[in-house]
Amino acid sequence: MLNLWYKNAVIYCLDVETYMDSNGDGVGDFEGLTRRLDYIAGLGITCIWLMPFYPTPNRDNGYDITDYYSVDPRLGTLGDFVEFARQANDRGMRVIIDLVVNHTSIDHPWFQAACKDRHSQYRDYYVWSETKPADAEEGIIFPGVQESTWTYSEEAKAYYFHRFYEHQADLNIANLAVREEICKIMGFWLELGISGFRIDAVPFLIELRGIEEDAHVKDPYLYLKEIRSFLSWRRGDAILLAEANVTMDKVPDYFGDGDKMQMLFNFVVNQQMMLAFVREQAAPIIAGLTASPAIPETGQWAHFIRNHDELSLDKLSDAEQAEVRVQFAPEEDMWIYDRGIRRRFPPMVQGDSRRVRLAYSLMFTLPGTPVLFYGEEIGMGEDLSLAERNATRTPMQWSAAENAGFSAASQPLVRPVITQAPFDYQHLNVINQRRNPDSLLNWMERAIRMRKECPEFGWGTWQIIETNHPSVLAHCCQGKRGSVIAVHNLSKTACSISLKFSLESQAQPQPLTEVFEDQAYELVQDTASEIALSGYGYRWFRIGSDCLLHNP
Ligand code: NOJ
Repeated sequence: MLNLWYKNAVIYCLDVETYMDSNGDGVGDFEGLTRRLDYIAGLGITCIWLMPFYPTPNRDNGYDITDYYSVDPRLGTLGDFVEFARQANDRGMRVIIDLVVNHTSIDHPWFQAACKDRHSQYRDYYVWSETKPADAEEGIIFPGVQESTWTYSEEAKAYYFHRFYEHQADLNIANLAVREEICKIMGFWLELGISGFRIDAVPFLIELRGIEEDAHVKDPYLYLKEIRSFLSWRRGDAILLAEANVTMDKVPDYFGDGDKMQMLFNFVVNQQMMLAFVREQAAPIIAGLTASPAIPETGQWAHFIRNHDELSLDKLSDAEQAEVRVQFAPEEDMWIYDRGIRRRFPPMVQGDSRRVRLAYSLMFTLPGTPVLFYGEEIGMGEDLSLAERNATRTPMQWSAAENAGFSAASQPLVRPVITQAPFDYQHLNVINQRRNPDSLLNWMERAIRMRKECPEFGWGTWQIIETNHPSVLAHCCQGKRGSVIAVHNLSKTACSISLKFSLESQAQPQPLTEVFEDQAYELVQDTASEIALSGYGYRWFRIGSDCLLHNP
């Protein structure tokens, strides 16, 4: 039987460096993280996604790797990693890790050797050109910071290709030795107890820029099949979660027939959600969901509110971007790379707890698997004085103690903690929120519990339910043994709606059992009843009178 655990998972992304420091050097580490596993498990998380923790000069938050088979010594040892993974597994949590093989750091010994000697076996690990290609200034990912995609190396006497920063040289996946190396890296970490990979920058990993001539690579998407097949032979229940911010017409190339990536982040729905929040209308979300093509039965969307990068709005039109920007990033320094917002979500809505909860309630009920970024569970803010995307990567706020309880260091921390009200650690931290039954943290715990008790949101077939109210999104997810309905009012104005249901099984009104909501409402009898919603209110229902149905 297939093990599709990821369909009902709740994923939590964190960066070891900023999570918990155990030895007082100002940098988070594996030992600190391991001590926090009970906290993460208590939240209800079932899978931890670790951002890169490999040796690195750290010029792109660890996405610039110098050794794929080791742990950054600032964060601990391989032994500490294995201990962490074992302890996470013991608590019923799986671990997935970032696989960053579109590029290496230019400090990687492979690149160094490739530059020193053009006859080195590593020369062909990278992508070279004797002259500067005419399109070198095209397709720049970090405009304003990155100047070109080809940079001259004096030592190599050639230009090397780098889709991202100039310190990240692209690997040449047309080279079979590189492909073997990538499999070896995957195999290595799978042996150490992980359940899969979040694959960085997949569209660029398989792009053929600079290697067009190579005979091996006719269809670059077949490479995704190759790594999936390797993964599944090594560990049958392991997954590949792709970072692929692509238009919907490209999506089938990434899922294949269920033989490529199991999961993709849904960037389009994420951006449409932001537009919907700003307009207080459901239509953009409906448009995003209905534009998403059907995916294989074993495939799954990953939904998120924020991740560790800028909140990219690149799939919205210029006018739509401007609409979102005016509300969510009104200051110049909140906007980056001509396309995105370098803020966390709560400050975008001025800390309005109704809107924050509405957003996460929506994320938990969207057809797919929810992904949280550390600190979202307590509603952390950002520090705009930090460079680029580091604004949202500040240390976890554990308590009101010095350094937010993140570290006992007396020297500067890896990144400063947030001290500016109202998102400062003195007020906003885990300990405070634990004590407060109405806190976001306690809300998250309940929301996650209910999401897990409603596996239909992850497994079911979904449909939008007509409500005749432009601000309300109502959708139903139907599993093999049950169905759930979620109703979200995106507007500040309270309303009352009725569901214009057309399921065959709905010929007769069905009883509804409320399972989660933003406030105490009068009970709803059945699918034909009026449903009241407060401003920014939400309600989840199970169809039927038994509210404790079992997993499909
Ligand atoms: C995508 C990652 O999410 C981002 O943080 C990084 O800068 C680029 N890939 C380059 O690795």
